[in-house]
Order: sequence, then C-alpha cells, then structure tokens
Amino acid sequence: MKHRILVVSSANIDFVQRMARLPRQGETVLEDATCKYVAGGKGSNSVVTFARLGADAVFCAKVGRDENGARLKRLYAEEGIDTRFVFEDSAAPTGLASILVEEEDGANRIIVYPGANSTLTDENIEEAFTCYPDGVFVQLEIPEQAVLAAARFAREKEIPLFVDAGPVRPGFSLEGIGRAEILSPNETECAALTGIYPDSVENCLKAAIRLAGMVETKYVVLKLGGRGSFVYDGKYYHLVPAHKVQAVDTTAAGDVFTAALSYAYLQKGDILEAARFATYAAAVSVTREGAVPSVPTLQQVKDFAAEIREGGR
Ligand code: RIB
Repeated sequence: MKHRILVVSSANIDFVQRMARLPRQGETVLEDATCKYVAGGKGSNSVVTFARLGADAVFCAKVGRDENGARLKRLYAEEGIDTRFVFEDSAAPTGLASILVEEEDGANRIIVYPGANSTLTDENIEEAFTCYPDGVFVQLEIPEQAVLAAARFAREKEIPLFVDAGPVRPGFSLEGIGRAEILSPNETECAALTGIYPDSVENCLKAAIRLAGMVETKYVVLKLGGRGSFVYDGKYYHLVPAHKVQAVDTTAAGDVFTAALSYAYLQKGDILEAARFATYAAAVSVTREGAVPSVPTLQQVKDFAAEIREGGR
C-alpha cells in the first residue's frame, strides 16, 4: 500500500566543505578538496527519503522567495513530492547550512541559519493537513510552535505521528508533543533531552524510559550511529546493530534512518523489521556525499540488504 506521509519540517541549501582536518580556533585553513552547494535541511532529506522509498510524500515547509527556494521546489517536484504546501516567505531567505565534513571518517559539524524555516505558521500546517495524510513526520528544525501545531493536528485527527527529535533545541520541552507513534533522537539529542548519554545498554534503557515519560509514545528508537539503534517499546528493548561501511559523509544519515524507519513501520507495523530496514538505508547514505544526494532509492536499499545477507560486505 502506498501511504501518504506529510513531512512538516525544514528546507535548506547546504554549503559543504570536505576537510582533511578541522581548523583550530583562530586558524585559517586553505582546502582545495571540494566545496559544493547541495539540497539539504532535515525536512528535505526526510521527504526525499519517503519519496525515493515509494511513499506518497507531501512536504510542508517554508522557503524564501529566492533562487535557492526555487531550486529546492524544482527538486522536490522532480522527486514526485507534493509541493502544494511548500510556502514562500517574501522577507526571509531560504534556510542555509554550513557543513564541514572530515575526510577521515565522514563526521560532520553543522551550523544552520534557519531563514524562512522560522516563519512556518500554524495556518500553513493546518492547510497542509487537508492532504489527508496516513502519517505525519516532524523534526525540530522549525519553530517550536510549528512542531506543537503539527502534533496537535495529528492528535486531533488520530493520525500516527513520527518525531525525529533533531536538532535539539535549547528550552524545547518534548512534553508539549503529547502523543507519538515513534520518538527518535540521536545520541547528542538523547543526552540533551534526558541528561543521559546513551553509551551503554543500561544508559540507553534509562534514557529511553525518561523519554517515554515525556511523550506518550509507542516506541523510543535511539540512533546510536556506528553502534546501530536501540528500540524500546515500554517493556522490552532490542539492539539493532549497524553495518560496517566505509563512511564518506554522515550528513543526513540520521534523517534517512528515521524516515525509512517510519516508512517501513507504516508498511508492516513491525518495529524491529522497520529498524533493520532503516539501518540498511542509513548505511547506504553514509557511503555517499551530501545530504539529499545521499538518499537511496528502495531498490538500492534492497540491493544493499541482499549484499549484506550474501556476505558480500
Ligand atoms: O541532518 C543534516 C541536515 O542538517 C543538513 O542537510 C543541514 O541542512 C541541516 O539541516
């Protein structure tokens, strides 16, 4: 079945530089390696993931009335994403992210200038809900009031809500979200939200219990990077290991993971199968450069999974 997913989140253009090493304080580093402008933003990365996996993807976001905004809207349309609710702000520019990627392990450092993302209103979101979604996916790279509005509309209409808790926002209290199907932070988000760094099974469990106390959620899924993910259903937990790949760029891997997790969960309702599927999708993403350009198609995820099963990696 083709589910309609409404993604309420952010859209950015990423300025990406690959570095042999990061500059120290006060240091200027000349890097000839690569420097690119690519489509990104946590929302773009997620909505493109849903589309490439085969969902009926609808995007609710705000871009500027500028060349970057036009470029992003063209890209979404090419991906088959419903762009009726990608609104334009005439005053604020399209969001921008400055990303440094380390050559050695693909690790990144990101600074976001939210621009038009900050102007997404409750009215914009209410309008987007007229698409009659089967699932709503939200991230925290938009104003707190917009996250809460999306959660409220989903609750009122009894539509499953998927919450990717990134990026962590100082002062943002998850409690306002109320209810969710899946709540999924990464390690740093988990630590910021709970005060517990999920570096051991015991700490993962403690943090997951604390998160489940903040939001009435069916599942907490902690994204643990190269260690995999920790799935907690309120009673039992499972560790889903990651696959060893040569990491080129980890940007967007977390967005791909949570979107693929939500997609697969909506398809079959099996959280562990969904986590395994999402682990494959995220692994393909880290072997590629860039945010949106790194998002795999359904066939690419299946091919990678088959390779792993046959022991080719
Ligand atoms: O999660 C990766 C994304 O974070 C980048 O694409 C960047 O735009 C920021 O939103």
